[in-house]
Amino acid sequence: MSTGLPLEPSDDELRRLLDDAVRRVVAHIGSLPSQPADGTAEAHGASALARALIEREAPEKGAEAGPLLDLLFEKAIPASFNNAGPGFMAYIPGGGQPYAAVADLISAGVNRYVGVFAPAPALVQLETNVIRWFVRAVGYPESAGGFLTSGGSLANFSAVVAARHEKLLENFLKGTLYVSDQGHHCIRKAALLAGFPAANVREIPSDPAFRMRLDALQSRVAADRAAGFTPFLVAASAGTTNTGAVDDLDALADFAAREGLWLHTDAAYGGFFALTARGRAALSGLERADSIVLDPHKGLFMPYGSGCLLVKDPAALRRSHSVQAHYMPGMQDDADSVDFCEISPELSRNFRGLAVWLSIKLCGLAAFRASLDEKLDLAMEAVEAVRGIPGMTIVAEPQLSLFAFRLTVPGASRTEMNRLNRDLMDRVNARQRVLLTGTLIGEDFAIRMCILSFRTHADRVRMALEDLREAVREL
Ligand SMILES: Cc1ncc(COP(=O)(O)O)c(C=O)c1O
Repeated sequence: MSTGLPLEPSDDELRRLLDDAVRRVVAHIGSLPSQPADGTAEAHGASALARALIEREAPEKGAEAGPLLDLLFEKAIPASFNNAGPGFMAYIPGGGQPYAAVADLISAGVNRYVGVFAPAPALVQLETNVIRWFVRAVGYPESAGGFLTSGGSLANFSAVVAARHEKLLENFLKGTLYVSDQGHHCIRKAALLAGFPAANVREIPSDPAFRMRLDALQSRVAADRAAGFTPFLVAASAGTTNTGAVDDLDALADFAAREGLWLHTDAAYGGFFALTARGRAALSGLERADSIVLDPHKGLFMPYGSGCLLVKDPAALRRSHSVQAHYMPGMQDDADSVDFCEISPELSRNFRGLAVWLSIKLCGLAAFRASLDEKLDLAMEAVEAVRGIPGMTIVAEPQLSLFAFRLTVPGASRTEMNRLNRDLMDRVNARQRVLLTGTLIGEDFAIRMCILSFRTHADRVRMALEDLREAVREL
């Protein structure tokens, strides 16, 4: 019976395993365009497989690598959304940049310590450069700073913690924060984790373009002050998950400045469009926020595990996140040499900056800019084509690369129309070339198309439109 591999492999053992894994990853990436868009569909037996894989006890003995990799690549991976493929237009597509995967292999392979500057100064500097590039991308002054997180939710959490500390200090239970009814639910979660009662998160209604209504915000803030609360934070959206709406960031910045509120902008989906001229125009006022969340694993096409919080005054991060201990190495005084543990929740952590650094160094930022521009073009072309389908209504125009639509049938009730549109979406998805998801806008079900993958090009959008037209004909 095999006893598997030793904890420390020989060079040959390690190379064999790497070769086998790399060969499979390369083949997988090559086959992404022809993989079904949704491997969780019942026909693929995904939930039965998940149940079959339940294992309560860790194996005492090791096993051969081949069958384990077979299980992964032949069964478990195919039984999932093909969210790294070109047909993924559901939710907010994540990326899957292969150079980033190579970087993750290197960073885990060398396993250096980047939570503190002193143990790996040159590596920390590379990650700090990534932050500097992002600071430029959003139009912040060079003095701004920030850190990379595992994703947008954690980045939004630290933004709420920083704002709480700057505006409320320790007695914060009367502090209230404001987000539109279209804002991402991770803002509510961030508030909860930061210690606020759920009711302190005020949901502000949005206008017909799904942007936070300034008049409603103004009156809610005034009412809260009159009732003895302390308004402290407005969380704007720069690209909502529901419909891609960008709040009026300039108007919110004026309002926040007048009222002495911290303005945070959740640009997890939309922020990297600031690299393009059209995106910058759509995100006008982004740089006026006190803090901004970006998700490289969305708009910069990175694999999952890459979020970012930028703060105009990085000292605010230090004030809200720094805790000292005698056993720690000395921290840096100089603003250019960052100890990530001083400005973020984590101490030991992976070297996540290498993925972004290597991808941008290898491809150049212009390649990312061009790809984002392509997404803006594709969304405009797609929305015009959808508009041209008889009976189709555009419920949310693309402000960036996401729009929502529904088929309307004169005389049909809301329930019938919702059922019809769910059916329409299911029929498109059943063709397995693209995956779309829907949402409720008020009580109306709408289908969304979010074009964000660097792998999605005109041919795939054409397939989506063909499948949509055919599905409409079938109804
Ligand atoms: C607008 C927006 N904000 C925040 C998040 C949360 O980010 P993450 O999933 O990276 O935690 C998402 C996720 O889709 C999002 O679309």
